[in-house]
Amino acid sequence: MPGTTPQPAQHPGGAHGSTRLPTTGRAWHLVRRPQGWPVPEDFALRETPVAAPAEGRILVRNRYFSVDPYMRGRMNDVKSYVPPFRLDAPMDGAAVGEVVASAADGFAPGDLVVHSLGWREYADFDARHATRVDPALAPLPAYLGVLGMPGLTAYAGLLEVASFKEGDTVFVSGAAGAVGSVAGQLARLKGAARVIGSAGSDDKVKLLREEYGFDAAFNYKKAPVAEQLKEAAPEGIDVYFDNVGGDHLEAAIGRLKLHGRVTLCGMIAQYNEVDPPAAPRNLALAIGKRLRLQGMIVMDHAHLQPRFVEEVAPWIRSGELKYHETVVDGIEHGVDAFLGMLRGQNVGKMVVSVAD
Ligand SMILES: NC(=O)c1ccc[n+]([C@@H]2O[C@H](COP(=O)([O-])OP(=O)(O)OC[C@H]3O[C@@H](n4cnc5c(N)ncnc54)[C@H](OP(=O)(O)O)[C@@H]3O)[C@@H](O)[C@H]2O)c1
Repeated sequence: MPGTTPQPAQHPGGAHGSTRLPTTGRAWHLVRRPQGWPVPEDFALRETPVAAPAEGRILVRNRYFSVDPYMRGRMNDVKSYVPPFRLDAPMDGAAVGEVVASAADGFAPGDLVVHSLGWREYADFDARHATRVDPALAPLPAYLGVLGMPGLTAYAGLLEVASFKEGDTVFVSGAAGAVGSVAGQLARLKGAARVIGSAGSDDKVKLLREEYGFDAAFNYKKAPVAEQLKEAAPEGIDVYFDNVGGDHLEAAIGRLKLHGRVTLCGMIAQYNEVDPPAAPRNLALAIGKRLRLQGMIVMDHAHLQPRFVEEVAPWIRSGELKYHETVVDGIEHGVDAFLGMLRGQNVGKMVVSVAD
């Protein structure tokens, strides 16, 4: 795997303001479809050509890119709500970076933008797919996490999909992660009677209780989820925000009250499983309890973005809503970051820092 830093070169080109651009940049390719857990050999970091952008396009030097659980699904060759990654081509996903050359009206070198060509050092794309961001409002990685897609997922999943209302008791799994930490804190800030979270280490549980203000939290690795949830929610729960599936979902179905609501946001416990898990085995309870279990995809809720930022940004500024990020330095560690996130090595949003 080549690990060289791209060398600056002169480009004549039509781009406004492109003087010294590199001739190549590194990008992560998927080279083999993982079976079960991905391994480093499924990926390759390769040099790809970089050129001055054509009319209407911009060239962006990525500063951070996101590694997300949904990307595991895109490594399989199956039809889904997003197409699979192609083999031997750069992978993509959310990124934030700096425009270094522009042939598009309204963009100039130095502008900072969010876009969807992550996993690479340089991204060349139609400027209509760039969203400008303001680093004075929030640090750049926040636009991939708390103020980005995961934050909106938490907001839409709790308020719109689960129809959260004041006084609800809410259980969130994956509660120390990018989506879960926002979902739990939003529930608290919006008047939940009780917020319960689960996570995979004692340190994460401590964070949930002491920093994020969860009323109760437990380490799902220490004892069966059903037992720990019963202890944490003796009166039952109204809402379950599911990031995990499997035994978490089974335990939640068991604790949900009449007319309880479940947001099926993610099922990370099974993304690397070759055989689907047996749980939940108690789904029939949903009938008698008149439960509503609803799947969600965040892109269906894009219309909520302005309201989400308007409501949540002040809580972030005031410190009422706290967030963490785990930043892995260097594009060469991109796959390590992705695998680390799947194993729970992140607290809050996992991002890869590509350049200063
Ligand atoms: N539907 C949508 O539109 C949408 C959008 C974004 C995200 N999602 C879903 O939301 C969930 C969270 O995503 P995120 O981006 O916020 O990731 P994240 O929670 O920041 O990171 C993933 C976390 O999953 C936990 N995990 C891994 N394996 C697990 C297992 N077997 N059982 C329980 N927990 C496990 C790990 O934390 P622990 O240390 O606690 O195990 C890990 O830190 C994922 O399921 C994702 O697919 C859905």
